[in-house]
Amino acid sequence: MEAELKRLVMRSPFDVRLPKLKREGESTLLCPFDARISWVAACHHRTSSRISWDLFSTTAVRLEPLFEELLPALQSDDRLPKAKTLRFSVDLGAAHDFEASPLQLRGVVKNALVEALQTRGVTAEIDVDTPEVVFVARRAGTPENRRTVVGIDIGLGARHRRGARVAAGPAPLRETMAAQLIILSRWDARSEPLVDPMAGSGTIAIEAAGLAVGAAIRRPAQLPFRHLAAFDGLPTETPDLFPGTVPRIVSLDIEQERILAMVGNLRAAGLTGRSHEDSIVIGQMDIRDLTPEYIAELLPRVAEMKPGVFCFNPPYGVRIGGEEGPEQLFDLYADMGRALARFRGWRAACFVANPYFVEAFGHFPTMTKPATNAELPGAFLTYDL
Ligand SMILES: C[S@@+](CC[C@H](N)C(=O)[O-])C[C@H]1O[C@@H](n2cnc3c(N)ncnc32)[C@H](O)[C@@H]1O
Repeated sequence: MEAELKRLVMRSPFDVRLPKLKREGESTLLCPFDARISWVAACHHRTSSRISWDLFSTTAVRLEPLFEELLPALQSDDRLPKAKTLRFSVDLGAAHDFEASPLQLRGVVKNALVEALQTRGVTAEIDVDTPEVVFVARRAGTPENRRTVVGIDIGLGARHRRGARVAAGPAPLRETMAAQLIILSRWDARSEPLVDPMAGSGTIAIEAAGLAVGAAIRRPAQLPFRHLAAFDGLPTETPDLFPGTVPRIVSLDIEQERILAMVGNLRAAGLTGRSHEDSIVIGQMDIRDLTPEYIAELLPRVAEMKPGVFCFNPPYGVRIGGEEGPEQLFDLYADMGRALARFRGWRAACFVANPYFVEAFGHFPTMTKPATNAELPGAFLTYDL
């Protein structure tokens, strides 16, 4: 997450440097607030699942003490929206160690916001369907220092919902995880081809194309910026941050039905047509038959490039791939290992939620990083082939 943000901030329209970020637990990065960095993160950052501008933090774990602290803090907080009227909603992050139900926590935060905004001259009303600003309440921090935090969601909710995927397939990888996988593969879009040999709905190819050119995933007009004075004067357009990069991406799957979904998703993401025909190639193929010669046929430019990277997530045997029993799945993993061994000098990165994959695949991982996709615990693995 940090490396991606640093790279984006360096190429952003702003003369700003990313300060040292603080890591909190496994999945949170804390950055001192700077509207320009927040703008870059909210518009372009692909690996974060939510971006909050934290306004308030307390050790309170019960409703009354929370309200007593939150209300005066909000009443004197100049960062809140200044409009005459405001439609807002409150989302909840992880809050299992708060000593009241999620509904009660949300209710108290809503009440404090309505009252605080009212004393600031803003008539605020709850609107869960079309809010202008979404606040987030969550429990955060390390086990020794837990806090209840209230912030403004400046990244437009759950960021794996990019909005472009029109057909998800039976076992899609979250977009945020696909982006993470590609970054872990250390893909250099300028000099290396990227192949997803089991591409399903094409999530990895779409993310790779976006990462390569630094394409935005949110437009400023979709974000709550116009209601927040801190963002006044920041750009309203989001041109690519790495224009001119032409990635070479191959997206394959064995199933005809998946190919149709993939084409639909690439089209919805604006990645089809003449300007992309040399850049992203789709094909129907069994990974077991994959050879460097076949890739060179699909992507003629590959001969001028360095060895490439494979990024994929194979069937785990839970949502798909379990129909024929575990033996067939392990045979597939072993066959995949043999097929990718034909690609000397290439690297591979995958996300797998099956503990037997590593042994069956038969290559030694250079990195193992536990992660979860749609509640299935698994791991990112990287390989030098
Ligand atoms: C877990 S899904 C991939 C999901 C994908 N990353 C996405 O986001 O939609 C695994 C894919 O592997 C494909 N597959 C299974 N066996 C295959 C094989 N032998 N060769 C190529 N693709 C295969 C399946 O059709 C399925 O689409």
